[in-house]
Amino acid sequence: MKETLEKIHASALEDIAKIQSTADIEDVKNTYLSRKSELNNIKKNLKDMSNDDKRIVGSLSNQITKDIEEKLNEKFQYFYKKELDEKLERERIDVTLPGSYTPFGKVHPLTQTVDEIVEIFQGMGFSLVHNENSPEVETEYFNFDMLNIPQDHPARDMQDTFYTKVAPNVILRSQTSGAQIHEMLSSKPPIRVIAPGRVYRCESVSARKNNLFHQIEGLLVDKDITFADLKGTMNEFLRLYFGSARPTRFRSSFFPFTEPSAEIDVQCIMCEGKGCRVCSGTGWLEILGAGMVDPNVLRNVGIDPEVYSGFAFGMGVERLAMLKWGIDDIRLFFNNDVRFLNQF
Ligand code: DAH
Repeated sequence: MKETLEKIHASALEDIAKIQSTADIEDVKNTYLSRKSELNNIKKNLKDMSNDDKRIVGSLSNQITKDIEEKLNEKFQYFYKKELDEKLERERIDVTLPGSYTPFGKVHPLTQTVDEIVEIFQGMGFSLVHNENSPEVETEYFNFDMLNIPQDHPARDMQDTFYTKVAPNVILRSQTSGAQIHEMLSSKPPIRVIAPGRVYRCESVSARKNNLFHQIEGLLVDKDITFADLKGTMNEFLRLYFGSARPTRFRSSFFPFTEPSAEIDVQCIMCEGKGCRVCSGTGWLEILGAGMVDPNVLRNVGIDPEVYSGFAFGMGVERLAMLKWGIDDIRLFFNNDVRFLNQF
């Protein structure tokens, strides 16, 4: 029995010498000290031995157990610290390294312009209608027919429209005015909405014109609305957008969906009315198209023109942004050159 114990001891010491990690320590512990180990078995059998054997084997097996425990403990102290140091070394963070640079994005100048204009009208009680209520891929029905521009009407030539191959009457909208129809079909007066969005025209691109640009449409329909309401609303908008003391003027004009129609000018912000390149020497800048909603349009959407009246207006966002910031080429908005965009 003594020999067996010494063998176990020798074998344990050999295994302990080979230990390389805390995981190895666990293995050795399992092999020699667990309840199912050979050493423990011997201890369990002590009760069947003679008293002499009991004493010798008992004390020897306890000694061996203690020795193994002590040696494993030493190994543990050593390998635990070693593994911890290695882990800390692996996870070391150099707080003096420079951080990685993430450039900040900016709101596009056209979006800034739309936001500013929408905010002005919201302040006057208009609510914003979103693009999804008035799609960019539109039908002629909404873009023209319902706006009092029938198939053979010459006004269709005023706007060079992109036709699609999706279906005969499907186009890219050439104006946001169709939003008026969508709005009047989906809600009842009083109506007071502002609808910004993209429009498309088949034109050759130049410093002043792009195939894609943005408009903001406005519509107000209620009882007893007169041209004076239109005039007051437009003047208030222009005052807030361009600053207080700038004169405005209404010129008589024609749009199929308004009667009477007007084009609204603001005194040139570059030359203050003296006449310059930007205003083509006239001293005035054309900003808005507007007018009283044509009774035919109201009838088309089932609103009785004897009971209700309204006004509508539309403006080009690029033009307003170009005037505000003195930008002389519309294409700059669409090139995504950060050297341009960073200035706003
Ligand atoms: N849709 C017109 C255009 O693109 C602009 C316009 C004029 C809109 C008069 C209106 C309006 O709502 O009343 O040229």
